[in-house]
Amino acid sequence: MAEMSYRTALVTGASSGLGRGLALWLARRGLRVFAAGRRVTHLQALAAEAQAAGVTVEPVELDVARADATLERLRELDSECGGLDLVVANAGVGGVTNGRRMDWDKVRSIIDTNVTGATATLSAVLPQMVERRRGHVVGISSLAAHRGLAGHAAYSASKAFLATFLESLRVDLAGTGVRVTTIFPGFVKSEMTAKNDFPMPFLMETEAAVELMGSGILRGETELSFPWQLALPSRLAKVLPNPLFDVAARRLR
Ligand SMILES: NC(=O)c1ccc[n+]([C@@H]2O[C@H](COP(=O)([O-])OP(=O)(O)OC[C@H]3O[C@@H](n4cnc5c(N)ncnc54)[C@H](OP(=O)(O)O)[C@@H]3O)[C@@H](O)[C@H]2O)c1
Repeated sequence: MAEMSYRTALVTGASSGLGRGLALWLARRGLRVFAAGRRVTHLQALAAEAQAAGVTVEPVELDVARADATLERLRELDSECGGLDLVVANAGVGGVTNGRRMDWDKVRSIIDTNVTGATATLSAVLPQMVERRRGHVVGISSLAAHRGLAGHAAYSASKAFLATFLESLRVDLAGTGVRVTTIFPGFVKSEMTAKNDFPMPFLMETEAAVELMGSGILRGETELSFPWQLALPSRLAKVLPNPLFDVAARRLR
């Protein structure tokens, strides 16, 4: 695909972790970046940090779980800034949803953000991108999407939904000038993983993951998985027969 120049970007979930890091990374490369999230004070602190570095990050208060409001706000933003070139659906929530103690409120909040929120974010901008014959949509899935992880039914399934959604988009959008990238991170230090009370093999520093994500996006990669030490076994796990997978997953639980 031909080189694409990027002028504007929107990153959801930019008040902390990977989204915050990616927003700054893109701004440092000269993009005008809109940083979206619910915690406005965090977004303002990010904008101030960007300004001190001589680059531009603009806060956008947004709760992606409110799908209709998200569609409306992002359509407005797209038109106000003369067209978003890059949209990263990064906002996400984690948490345990164990089949033995099923908690619908938890399941619903994961679906509202990771599924409804991410697809509303992408759906808000795609028609205009297709019309302009230019743009790039990115979704942050997870290596947890490849198989149903024990104790994480809602999270694993939400990330599998996003990955499959993006795969169909990639096929649909071939030849339209609109790119699609799906990112499958392993464990990366962030507010989300700080809550985990289980071992996280090959846990990465946020900056290292952001560097891989940012450069992969600008290269126009269709898929990006990291770290390789975890990406490789989780890809292989996709083809592991269920009886073997079940034994391995129970051991890891
Ligand atoms: N860290 C990892 O190991 C890892 C691995 C695989 C995938 N991921 C994915 O990477 C993405 C970023 O996660 P992270 O690790 O950086 O965690 P994080 O530090 O907890 O960041 C999550 C971000 O999502 C935002 N968010 C949550 N609910 C939202 C909502 N309803 N509307 C708008 N924004 C919302 C949060 O901002 P507000 O609270 O201010 O709204 C926050 O900025 C997530 O999609 C996550 O599933 C992370």
